[in-house]
Amino acid sequence: MTKKLEVIETVRDKTGDLYKYSKLGSALVNERRANKDRKKGAKDAASMNNSRLAKILGGKENAGDASESKEGGTFLDDQTYGRQAILQQRKRLPAYQARSELMKVVAENQVLVVIGETGSGKTTQIPQFLYDEGYCRYGGLVGVTQPRRVAALSVSKRVSEEMGVRLGQEVGYTIRFEDRTSSQTRVKFMTDGILLREALMDPELDKYSCIVMDEAHERSLNTDILLGLFKRILTRRRDLKLIITSATMNAFKFSRFFGNAEQFTIPGRTYPVDVMFSAIAVQDYVASAVKQIIRLHLRSEPGDILCFMTGQEDIETTCEELDKELTDLMKADETLEPLEILPIYSTLPADLQAKIFRKSKFRKCVVATNIAETSLTVDGIRFVVDTGLMKLKVYNPKLGMDTLQITPISLAQANQRSGRAGRTGPGLCYRLYTQYAATNEMFAEPIPEIQRTNLSNTILLLKYLQVEDLSKFPFLDRPPIETINTAQYDLWCLGALDNFGRLTALGKKMSNFPIDPALSRLLIISSFKQFQCSKEVITIVAMLSIPPIFIRPMHDAALQRRSDSIREKFQVAESDHLTLVNIFNLFRSNGCKESWCTKNFLQYKSLRRAVEIHSQLSQIMKSQKLAILSNPNWDVIRKCLCASFFHQAAQFKKHGEYVNLRTGLQMRLHPTASLYGMGDLPKYVIYHELLLTGREYMNYVTAVDGEWLCEFGEIFYAVKEKGLTSRENQARKERDFTRLIEEQRKLIS
Ligand code: CDP
Ligand code: MG
Repeated sequence: MTKKLEVIETVRDKTGDLYKYSKLGSALVNERRANKDRKKGAKDAASMNNSRLAKILGGKENAGDASESKEGGTFLDDQTYGRQAILQQRKRLPAYQARSELMKVVAENQVLVVIGETGSGKTTQIPQFLYDEGYCRYGGLVGVTQPRRVAALSVSKRVSEEMGVRLGQEVGYTIRFEDRTSSQTRVKFMTDGILLREALMDPELDKYSCIVMDEAHERSLNTDILLGLFKRILTRRRDLKLIITSATMNAFKFSRFFGNAEQFTIPGRTYPVDVMFSAIAVQDYVASAVKQIIRLHLRSEPGDILCFMTGQEDIETTCEELDKELTDLMKADETLEPLEILPIYSTLPADLQAKIFRKSKFRKCVVATNIAETSLTVDGIRFVVDTGLMKLKVYNPKLGMDTLQITPISLAQANQRSGRAGRTGPGLCYRLYTQYAATNEMFAEPIPEIQRTNLSNTILLLKYLQVEDLSKFPFLDRPPIETINTAQYDLWCLGALDNFGRLTALGKKMSNFPIDPALSRLLIISSFKQFQCSKEVITIVAMLSIPPIFIRPMHDAALQRRSDSIREKFQVAESDHLTLVNIFNLFRSNGCKESWCTKNFLQYKSLRRAVEIHSQLSQIMKSQKLAILSNPNWDVIRKCLCASFFHQAAQFKKHGEYVNLRTGLQMRLHPTASLYGMGDLPKYVIYHELLLTGREYMNYVTAVDGEWLCEFGEIFYAVKEKGLTSRENQARKERDFTRLIEEQRKLIS
């Protein structure tokens, strides 16, 4: 029953130098590589479009779309993979075999922790068992939470197919800004963030009879908060069942948290996996992975390959390089079989994501982020290539924001990754790092998100739920007190909390929007008399919620120039935010057509999504009784932007360089900014976010007046002879606030 990993220390090298590991694993070297990739990636990301990606995948773009278009339908082709076959497959799953015993334990307990190997059928089977067992009989819903959007989407599709129903009917999903459920829906998949939002509106989650908190071992921020809330909900609703599913790591913690709740282990069978470490550390993990994959492909043994990378950029680079190498090899040796290269990461369009589950004539090579560690299971994997790295959201106090950093994975994750090779037979895992690095540089377990990210949004929600005293909230793992204080301070700056840390009327309104606090403040104040520009601001927020919309073809200089000049045509001189409004309006007035987007080098799917988000935000505005008004004076819109983003302001220094007014950090205009390359740059700007690609780049920049900054950012800035000053003022205010919080805490304790 326990997973057996055979560790073989020496690197087996059968074909000579191809498998000679060089130095990898050292964080520094990886960082350098990552920086290089990220720089390239930032450029490429803007220019990569679906058809290009499809070409990398083997030019079968339309084949994928065809079966996908049968909506509400399936992504596994019925002909090759009928329902009968699915049933056979289901019956083989360990969860299916443990069904009656599992349902007995569910009936006897209010809280149950279900532990099972990845791929044993927890996610796809348990919700169906509950449905079949009649937990939805009286109209109650079975809710299943996932930490990741991709998983919520793909798993609900799979389950609807297994149940033989159309997606959106009995089985549906809800992710942010996308609701595919109906009045018939009984099994609802959603992200944990969605359930948390629902808990705001309906604190006892009345419409659910069962909640499955899936992938709890991932310890996402929202899952952790929900678990804390469940402590209270479960005492009030004795009829509600909570099932927490977890891979083997971390499981005991959940059980202990709920007063030694019952555990149920799905007996699993796994095959031994040969684990091979690199003899010496590797310098370039992408190149090493590509070599290793090619080597595996050249070997004749069958079996698909799964390679773990850190994110979109290096996944794309890996896929491209693999494609290049293979094309060359196939030219030299015509008998060589093609390799189906399949990327998967969270922002990949859904139709391309679904491809990883399709049957393929050829050997598959899935290049994935850590999403394939536990959330998604691709059958047939025999070989795993593990870079030992992942991207992790970490709060950077210097920048005052969350950044994605490339970091080594934990030992638990390393085992999880290698285990993916031993699901259907003995497997092989190549770790692109040394055994020394594994034992000496890796944490035993991953650090939960709650302990490493910005908590502003979370604190806002908790305050809304009247969790006044955060020190008494039942956290599974407590976040550091500094993080809580920083979040409270940020919310105070935005006017969401008063001097005593209580939610203000504005703060209350802000918590109704499923977006970052600065953006929800922006939306709310845009309907104020002073601005009256909420229509445009809704557009801005919708456009900021989608991936970059500009396409810049990668290898064609002439096309690049054309796309650049078209982009310039759209640009509003002083503001990227207004440029977004401009594009959105043109997209709509041109009938939301794909052809218009193609002609103008714009991402059609993203713009469609922006239209949907726009209508959802408008609905929330209406429900909050906030007027939706259009303002033809775009200076007012810039002023309104300043009134919400005054905390992210910068002053011009020289040659396109700006200095952050609060932190003194040097920052540049992003090359796609409308101000970029302009001769006479404005003295002050606000920005939406920082992109870190070696240097700090401001992304989405708008010129503002110094006076506006003083007016709205009075807590930070004051006018001095030579312009704005900030430091002392801020320090004073900051001390004031910390003192207030301290006092408040003393009062309570
Ligand atoms: O949740 P857990 O890791 O225990 O397993 P699961 O996600 O329920 O997967 C059970 C089986 O369903 C695996 O063999 C998957 O390959 C299969 N599956 C699939 O074919 N397509 C999906 N979209 C999801 C799961
Ligand atoms: Mg699962």
